[in-house]
Amino acid sequence: MSGVMVKPASAVEGTVTVPGDKSISHRAALLGGMAEGETRITNFLAGDDCLSTLACLAKLGVTWERRGSEVWLQGKGTANWREPEDVLDVGNSGTTARLFLGALAASPLAATLTGDASIRQRPMRRVTDPLKRMGAAIIGRRNGDFVPLTIRGGGLKGYAHRTEVASAQVKSALLLAGLGADGVTSVEEPQVSRDHTERMLRAFGVPVTMEGRMVQVRGGSRLRGQTVAVPADISSAAFFLVLGSLAGRGEIVLPEVGINPTRTGILDVLRRMGADIEVLAKREPAGEGRATLRVRPADLHGTEIAGEIIPRLIDEVPILAVAASLAEGETVIRDAAELRVKETDRIQTVADGLRGLGADVEELPDGLRIRGKKRLPGGRAKSYGDHRLAMSWAVAGLLSQEGVAVEGMEAAAVSFPDFLAVLDQIVKR
Ligand code: S3P
Repeated sequence: MSGVMVKPASAVEGTVTVPGDKSISHRAALLGGMAEGETRITNFLAGDDCLSTLACLAKLGVTWERRGSEVWLQGKGTANWREPEDVLDVGNSGTTARLFLGALAASPLAATLTGDASIRQRPMRRVTDPLKRMGAAIIGRRNGDFVPLTIRGGGLKGYAHRTEVASAQVKSALLLAGLGADGVTSVEEPQVSRDHTERMLRAFGVPVTMEGRMVQVRGGSRLRGQTVAVPADISSAAFFLVLGSLAGRGEIVLPEVGINPTRTGILDVLRRMGADIEVLAKREPAGEGRATLRVRPADLHGTEIAGEIIPRLIDEVPILAVAASLAEGETVIRDAAELRVKETDRIQTVADGLRGLGADVEELPDGLRIRGKKRLPGGRAKSYGDHRLAMSWAVAGLLSQEGVAVEGMEAAAVSFPDFLAVLDQIVKR
């Protein structure tokens, strides 16, 4: 069994430029492809997932150009999308799959979507059922639950949706479909999920009503091309917030990190655990706030993470679990059954992985119970192709006694292509 050996760190020090936000990069590309006129995206995340979104747009006839971290799209409106000759491949990206299903539902073109082995097992009926209710024709395995899925949209009617899970992908898909539907489409969620789509639709000139857990759009609004400056991804910054808290010596500075309140659960929880994180130079240009985060070593203690905060930190649970395994006392994570349908079943893969490194972890139906230790011995851990696991195990290696051999480290490229190189710049051994 091979793997990338990540050896223990004695200190960390430096400024880390975290890549662009994955959720915002996807949306900027897709809305740019739906809009009329030019869209310019700066600090676009050139990770595998967002490249899948660009590749799907190209198959629909949208022209774009990527120069480094900038992307220019020449949108002609969804009405001018071309029926794709071949299957749209979303790769590993749930966001691409679900948001395109929504956008395509509003168009009369026939398209088939598929993706990698992980995405072929992830639930899609949460999107396809409500889209069918609006009038889209969708067929696929298990009554439309899994890709490959074929969709032919058009002729949609607005609908008042109430979703069972707080999911920004579902909400976004239904809103994008609603833009091409007759009348009003609303989505009410059990808890508020990330609201990047709503904010960006407004920036592209679409009126969006947001009231508590309810969002509403009216069909017929046109999108106008925009300039979108993508902030650094707080979900990627999270690895450095945990590393900087627990490495024992040194400080890490993370400039221009997105601090949209629907994403900052990680800051709230780490601070509650005793972390020393400062939020500096806050500013809010056009829609998405950003700030410099500075993290210094601290003694962390366990906490309970449950309820409304879960959607605000759902992608950070793997690295929070690493933090909890090195915090004093017990941490309990509940109400997070959604983790079971992410890139992997993250309740099971996190529990198994951490246990293999010497942590005391118990799997719960909807979360984890973790009893912290002073140090983890280390060992081997698999990513199972899940980017956030790969990076969590690398951080665990830096914080371990003997290091961690991470099998499948290359999965990090989904959201953070240069992760190991960036770590190398700040880690002292
Ligand atoms: C995302 C929403 C979340 C998150 C995912 C990205 C998005 O998923 O876990 O990584 O960009 O909308 P759900 O919508 O399934 O909650």
